[in-house]
Amino acid sequence: MRLVNVNYLEEGAVLARPVMNSMCQVLLQSGVKLNASYISRLRNYGCEVVFIEDERLDDVEIQPAISTQTRELAHMTLKQITGYIKRGQGDVLPVEQVRTAVEEMIADLLQSRDIVGNLTEIQVYDEYTFQHSINTTVIALILALALGYPESKLLELGMGVLMHDVGKLKVPDEILNKTTPLTEAEFDEIKKHTTYGYEILRQNRDFSLLSSHIAFQHQEKWDGSGYPRGLKGTEIHEYGRIAAVADVYEALTSRRVYRSAWQPYQAFEYMVANSGTHFEPKIVDSFSKNIAVYPTGSGVRLSNGLRGNVIRQNSSFPSRPVVRALYEEESPLLAPIDLNLVEHPSLMIVKVENQ
Ligand SMILES: [Fe+2]
Repeated sequence: MRLVNVNYLEEGAVLARPVMNSMCQVLLQSGVKLNASYISRLRNYGCEVVFIEDERLDDVEIQPAISTQTRELAHMTLKQITGYIKRGQGDVLPVEQVRTAVEEMIADLLQSRDIVGNLTEIQVYDEYTFQHSINTTVIALILALALGYPESKLLELGMGVLMHDVGKLKVPDEILNKTTPLTEAEFDEIKKHTTYGYEILRQNRDFSLLSSHIAFQHQEKWDGSGYPRGLKGTEIHEYGRIAAVADVYEALTSRRVYRSAWQPYQAFEYMVANSGTHFEPKIVDSFSKNIAVYPTGSGVRLSNGLRGNVIRQNSSFPSRPVVRALYEEESPLLAPIDLNLVEHPSLMIVKVENQ
């Protein structure tokens, strides 16, 4: 299977993975042959890319970072938490359920420990905050695993990251969903979501104080230019420093109301460029060693004119995967060529084109 941008989809292509909404309900099943109406539906759903069958890439395995069941459980949990907070019961949150959801996420990730985080998820654009919180937690946990965290700390981190944006429930929707530039007063209101979140979470005795601090600190920056308190360097707890990296990367690579999603490699460049200012260099380093820059299935063009798809990751070199070349410029090759970019240091990926 390969990744195809919905703008390049052609009629007759067969879906290799189902398209789901954020509640993991299947909207289009795998095996469906796409016709013009399905293709326009996918565009309307706000899907950016889908996985398409391709017999030249039949042997390519793409295992999602967490299972559909785990994602569903995390989603349900967030939905319930939202209900509690909206009803004014933020002090009696079902913390046990948050714990279970994060335990499942950790168990899934531990099972696929040696693969570089493969984060491509085919989802339509709805309930952004839930999807964002779940994906941010997955990324934070991958980083923490790479940093050698024991399970107890993984759990404490994961629970906090899953809840890091609950304070947004206290910020008016008109401000959160605004597509035009924010006024200073509106931005000040958005900034308060960190404090609101912390206040909600700390009312719950079973929710650890350090986990609550993730809501409080995830917008702080390494150089002290973040909010709400302008903490600097190690004044920010390591959980907050991890959450900041995961949060920004997830937001950049997701479609938003006001812009389309960035490609992972573009978001990568952003993270590296802001290492030492916005982000702690150690965490960015762990990030760049453990998250796939070119997710498996991506269409890529190489510096020698060959183009094809990423078929495997190299776990210690996420920017140099194994590529199966299928074309030379625009002409199909007689036989595909597998190129492990680790063994071909002079070859570079020059372009990502999910066609
Ligand atoms: Fe946030």
